[in-house]
Amino acid sequence: MSERRVLVHGGTVVDATGARRADVLVAGGVIAEVGPHLERGRRGTLALDAEGCVVAPGLVDVHTHLREPGGEEAETLESGSRAAALGGFTAVVAMPNTEPPADSAEVVRYVLERARTACCSVQPAGCITVGRQGKVLAPMAEMAGLGVRLFTDDGHGVQDPSLMRRALEYASSLGVVVAQHCEDDALAAGGCMNEGEWSSRLGLPGRSSLAEEVMVERDLALARLTGARLHLMHLSSAAAVAAVRRAKAAGLANVSAEATPHHLSLTDEALAGYDPVFKVNPPLRARADVEALRQGLADGTIDVIATDHAPHSPEAKQVTMCEAAPGMVGLETALAVALTDLALPIADVLALMSWRPARLAGLGDGQGGPLVPGAPAHLCVVDPARGWVVDPAKLASKSRNTPFAGRRLQGRVRHTLYAGEPVVIGEEAQR
Ligand code: DOR
Repeated sequence: MSERRVLVHGGTVVDATGARRADVLVAGGVIAEVGPHLERGRRGTLALDAEGCVVAPGLVDVHTHLREPGGEEAETLESGSRAAALGGFTAVVAMPNTEPPADSAEVVRYVLERARTACCSVQPAGCITVGRQGKVLAPMAEMAGLGVRLFTDDGHGVQDPSLMRRALEYASSLGVVVAQHCEDDALAAGGCMNEGEWSSRLGLPGRSSLAEEVMVERDLALARLTGARLHLMHLSSAAAVAAVRRAKAAGLANVSAEATPHHLSLTDEALAGYDPVFKVNPPLRARADVEALRQGLADGTIDVIATDHAPHSPEAKQVTMCEAAPGMVGLETALAVALTDLALPIADVLALMSWRPARLAGLGDGQGGPLVPGAPAHLCVVDPARGWVVDPAKLASKSRNTPFAGRRLQGRVRHTLYAGEPVVIGEEAQR
């Protein structure tokens, strides 16, 4: 918590309650006042210009890989949370596919300890199964006791349907969310890109979207049976979107779904140059899938946008397509890609990236707003008119594997405040 007084002036406040022209005064880590023309020039108050900008609750990412412990050459909580702050995020859920994986209270405690000095709130997710091996349930109750609210074996789906059923039953009694990486191993086996026209043309082994569809259908049935909170991660295919839409229309209310900026923006044609930077699981799909994902966002089938920020060292990426590690960084480009490519009003994008994911992850503590006096000051200030070109060398992430290198995007985070501390001022990280 920062003791500093900060005045964010001249912007338009947008949160779940609507939009209004207002300044925001922050003192002692919380929002002190929201209203037009608040006092300026008081000594000791830092004035942050928000002219032409939207002042919103900080963004929340329910799907971030920070690689600690064990993958520090690719990312750390320090570098990853700095990247998050630059992207406007004030909270991220850290994926547990670390080395060792976060499948015990001990590793969760380690991440929580490291999170104390991060540039944003870092909430560890826990594994569903011991070692992410898909054989034995991890001690979810112990981890939930430390505040873990989301469990996943991400990077890998839970293959055994009866184990997944037990995970959901257990989660339901604990009041936590089970988040599934939806790919059936047998159907995805050996593929390193989407199975389709482009995999045929390029002569690369395909990964069928059926792998996603069958697991989504299976897990929807299990969610229906158990009544547990199921979250479907990084959906990529039209068939999966259709399955979730049908389930929700039939009254299944305990299921949520996410899509990533890369799946909403890029197709498998991006792999035409054989550059492994475009390799990701689930893979980039065909144009019709991208359109279906966008439709899913527009009609509420997909609840949130999540980055799946997946940093990898050059050694892990600069190999053949089949050998390369899957994944892309995304924290610093997510909001701009969404604003540039989705043709949605900014308030809708903020709902998808701030207050809805905050609720999904059960965050509280003022994350996701609304911006009212007394609430912890987690804010991002976004200039929607600002054009910029993505330069991998300038990313704060330790890794450079962005699929948007050289892309011109519109919309950029100008300032970010975390617990009242200006962690980003004028597009620059402050620590
Ligand atoms: O491409 C991916 N990379 N997909 C995942 O689900 C995991 C992630 C990683 O950890 O690198």
